[in-house]
Amino acid sequence: MSERRFGLSDDALLQLETVYRDGLFAGRTVLVTGAGTGIGKGISVLFGRLGARVVLSSRSEEKLATTAALLDRVGAEHRVHPANIREPDEIDALFAALEEADAVPDVVINNAGGQFPQASTALSDKGWRAVIDTNLNGTWTVMQRAARIWQRRRIPGSIVNIIAPHRRGMHGVAHTVAARAAVDHVSRNVAVEWAPDGIRVNCVLPGPIDTEGMNVYPAKAQARMAKTNPMRRLGDVQDVAQACVYLAADSGKFVTGETLVVDGGHQHWGEIWLTDEPEHFRS
Ligand code: ADE
Repeated sequence: MSERRFGLSDDALLQLETVYRDGLFAGRTVLVTGAGTGIGKGISVLFGRLGARVVLSSRSEEKLATTAALLDRVGAEHRVHPANIREPDEIDALFAALEEADAVPDVVINNAGGQFPQASTALSDKGWRAVIDTNLNGTWTVMQRAARIWQRRRIPGSIVNIIAPHRRGMHGVAHTVAARAAVDHVSRNVAVEWAPDGIRVNCVLPGPIDTEGMNVYPAKAQARMAKTNPMRRLGDVQDVAQACVYLAADSGKFVTGETLVVDGGHQHWGEIWLTDEPEHFRS
């Protein structure tokens, strides 16, 4: 089978439709981590299209440049701040720079992360720790530092952590399942702790989304990906981006400690049919 290439072109990304109105985020600043590629890039473009000032962060300045170019094309104000979320000092420096520039975010989309597929018994200690360090510790550092600033300044804030379908397990990525489950859970915990400060904390849990990140998986896994939900297709980055907007905007003002699952029904999908299995699912 020929390898399928995933991900949208920049032009296609700009063409994605949204149900949200222009100007919804006018006057608001949104920090997006992992903004250089895939879901983070799509989220950045949507918030930019809705009038937000977008702070783009990621480890790679080069990748951020492509997202920044897209924000130029939609006329969105933006700043680029490379930072490695695994380095607390770099996250402190990022927030210090934003305070200095009068660009403290109102919303943090905590999207940076990554993993590699490997049988769990084959994972090295180093590999396990690297993924936990990025996907759990790094995500935690960003959310904690944002909350500290909002508490100190006595201003409200909203955090959306992007996680992954850990609840049913994702076989071959045990490290990320552990990290994402922890983020899912600690988000509920701090949602209560920080509610008195006007800080909301939610997660978006995407199923398989058509991004270039899919290209790291073996061809067989790629071919199965679209069959892991009853809709029998992949989601697109706009599905995730619009979920983030819902939670971050006033539409989500009474929502905290929640995880919005955007997975085409994957979490409910099973193999047991006590009636005849519909033809739709047989291939
Ligand atoms: N994207 C993937 N890993 C990252 C990291 N450690 N820091 C920032 N962005 C990332």
